[in-house]
Amino acid sequence: MTLWSGRFSTSMDSTLWDLSQSYSFDQVLYHHDIMGTKAHVRGLHHSGLITEDELSVLLTTLDEVEAEFDRGLFVRSGSDEDIHMAIERRATELAGDVGAKIHTSRSRNDQVATTLRLFTRDALTQVAEGILALIDALRAAGERTPGAYLPGYTHLQRAQPVLLSHHLQAHAWSLVRDIDRLLDNRDRMNVSPLGAGALAGTSLPIDPDFTADLLGFAEPFANSMDAVSDRDFVAETLFDIALTGIHLSRMGEELVLWTSAEFDFATLGDNFTTGSSMLPQKKNSDVAELARAKSGRLVGNLTSLLVTLKGLPLSYNRDLQEDKEPLFDSVHTLLLVLEALAGAYGSLSFNAATAQLAADDPFLVAIDIAEKLVEDGVPFRQAHEAVGRLVGEAVTSGTSLLDVVGAHHDLARFIDLFRTGAALQQRRSPGASGPAAAPQQAERLNSSLAALRERLNS
Ligand code: ARG
Repeated sequence: MTLWSGRFSTSMDSTLWDLSQSYSFDQVLYHHDIMGTKAHVRGLHHSGLITEDELSVLLTTLDEVEAEFDRGLFVRSGSDEDIHMAIERRATELAGDVGAKIHTSRSRNDQVATTLRLFTRDALTQVAEGILALIDALRAAGERTPGAYLPGYTHLQRAQPVLLSHHLQAHAWSLVRDIDRLLDNRDRMNVSPLGAGALAGTSLPIDPDFTADLLGFAEPFANSMDAVSDRDFVAETLFDIALTGIHLSRMGEELVLWTSAEFDFATLGDNFTTGSSMLPQKKNSDVAELARAKSGRLVGNLTSLLVTLKGLPLSYNRDLQEDKEPLFDSVHTLLLVLEALAGAYGSLSFNAATAQLAADDPFLVAIDIAEKLVEDGVPFRQAHEAVGRLVGEAVTSGTSLLDVVGAHHDLARFIDLFRTGAALQQRRSPGASGPAAAPQQAERLNSSLAALRERLNS
């Protein structure tokens, strides 16, 4: 028997049941649904709709139901269409007559919106924590080989030498913005839909402020129709996750390159690499490839929800049930990738000698010679042109820029710039990649992270 059997003469066709049931994937909401239901029954008591004794029976019963889920002992009944109906059905079995009062003034529409917001709020916190752990791993990887440097690239062509710590912190900054975005979202979505009913509220004397407060929401909904039909918070979460995933895919791609024999800038630990079933010598960076690949499904999940929401009339439509699998999948996938990448960076050893050799490529000193000429009063365009000619000479003669500079007596003062690591020392401007500019950046990153941690725990 369904909860709406009063109006129907035959039972639901099994195909419709299979199509419409969501229990198979929404059980993960049990904790948050029970949390919402407890606040709801407290609200019923607060409004005089149930007695003190009834409240206490319902609260104890809901704890029992939660314990069944926690221990994996909860048994789904054939009529449990989703987690919300399963919990109400079981609570009613355990509590007896008073169970029939649980759903007073509530609809699954405000219930599911409340449950999903509670779930998402916690998920945003969890994801932000996972990102912070990855930032820690990135910074630690930089600190393990202090002073190490590598070529910095534009167009994947060697451009200027950069410090390893600076390079890894560039990734950290994109992750800082990701956390900031998640926390903005968490603030914005912290609104309670409970009390909106099916779509238009209720004639019963409920107090949505009271239940919002119990659930730690900043405020209750303003408009009941918006409350049950708004899934912006899911879309935003999927976007935040997708963008973070895209940042991780860029890091993954870089690890694939760095660990290739062609670059040979880094080696991942054996515990974070895989072998080949055929080729005995292989050591593959699957972790980095999967970090790169998983971003595809994160973007897919976002796209799927946006398309589901497009053109939906007000207010609740069953289409909205399709918000859950993308959300659960994106949260789960991102948490996994974050943890795996943090582990991978933890296992990373940077091959400083190879990377430095590449970064000491004499061509990378070209800009430093030009900038020295500028200091001597030569306009930059002329300096660029002059050094460009030296580069051209080296390329045509098949020698190095160092040899060409060495051959010109009037350029002798530039020879020093070719010393190992010398070019890096020149980079002093704020935010630049050089040892002189590094402490200020570390300080900025520290203070941004401290502010985010404080917000995260508030
Ligand atoms: N499982 C449903 C969902 O996730 C619950 C809401 C059903 N509401 C309704 N009016 N049929 O959206």
